[in-house]
Amino acid sequence: MNAPNVLTGIKPTGQPHLANYIAAIKPALELAQQPNQQALYFVANYHALISVHDPEVFRNYTNEVAATWLALGLDPDKVIFYRQTDVPEILELYWVLSCFTPKGLMNRAHAYKAIVDKNAEEGLDVDTGVNMGLYTYPILMAVDILLFQTDLVPVGKDQIQHIEIARDIADNFNRTYGETFRLPKYFVKEETAVVPGLDGRKMSKSYGNTIPLFASSKELRKLIMKIKTDSTPPEAPKDPETSTLFTLYREFATPQQVEEMKRKYQTGIGWGQVKQELFEVIDEALREPREKYHAYLEQPEELNRILEQGAKRAREIARKTLQDVRNRIGC
Ligand code: ADP
Ligand code: TRP
Repeated sequence: MNAPNVLTGIKPTGQPHLANYIAAIKPALELAQQPNQQALYFVANYHALISVHDPEVFRNYTNEVAATWLALGLDPDKVIFYRQTDVPEILELYWVLSCFTPKGLMNRAHAYKAIVDKNAEEGLDVDTGVNMGLYTYPILMAVDILLFQTDLVPVGKDQIQHIEIARDIADNFNRTYGETFRLPKYFVKEETAVVPGLDGRKMSKSYGNTIPLFASSKELRKLIMKIKTDSTPPEAPKDPETSTLFTLYREFATPQQVEEMKRKYQTGIGWGQVKQELFEVIDEALREPREKYHAYLEQPEELNRILEQGAKRAREIARKTLQDVRNRIGC
């Protein structure tokens, strides 16, 4: 068997935030450092087309996600790094695998179901505001994964269902034509499965409770000060495990700082003080990436060059899988 492939994508629908980094980008970059495997990371801009219909905004979001990965240390010589829209093979396989996806499987996908439930609650037609891209989103995601014979997909917890769907679709195809696709597994870090946002709910662009990864120092401080805490007095012991501030702190501080902070939680520390220390570690950790991020955004041609180079490599793998698929189905 060939070296395992690790693959993940980020949808460019807004500025990347701390949870994207903690749950998806950071573990993916760590995995990419390991020997004897091939990492493939991409900007899922076809997925963003479901909701972003302004070309200028679409291009900017795509560049922002690409610049984010590079600024955080992705090495495009090692990782195959590309834009989804530069790999047309994805769309060919999309049709083929649509024919192996039971409609009922899409009805059960959580993003679609959430909209249907909300529409029903509001007395609207259940499919109001649902385009076919949204409805078949999990098929496109399955293709992203299966086309590259992916073994492992680092993501946040909300994506687990999509990876299970990808396995189901692969299995349907394999049972018909013999072993064609590898069955992917998800990689979810338990501690960061759901990163909380400003209001304590899951940090998400759709809740407007995010901290943008590359906010300026000033804005970062302002947002951290807004994170919701309870009214426990400073001197009272606090539980780090249920604290949004600690969940974020742990991801940016050194192991020694983390131990110290745990002790302070036990002996008593005011939330204001925790916030200040959290701001300091995040600001320090992101200072250099923030500069690099802005530098990349000022060189869109360079971003383009890197992504096109990555797409060339990605397409070599994609073509092999697709040729095999075409042979099997009898084209
Ligand atoms: P958003 O919910 O803000 O639109 P995306 O859907 O673009 O975020 O998520 C990109 C990646 O980041 C996915 O792997 C997703 O699982 C992960 N992710 C996003 N928000 C969180 C969160 N609050 N906790 C854990 N993982 C998250
Ligand atoms: N659905 C993912 C998200 O919302 C983005 C994505 C698209 C993805 N294709 C993928 C993630 C393939 C992992 C693998 O974040």
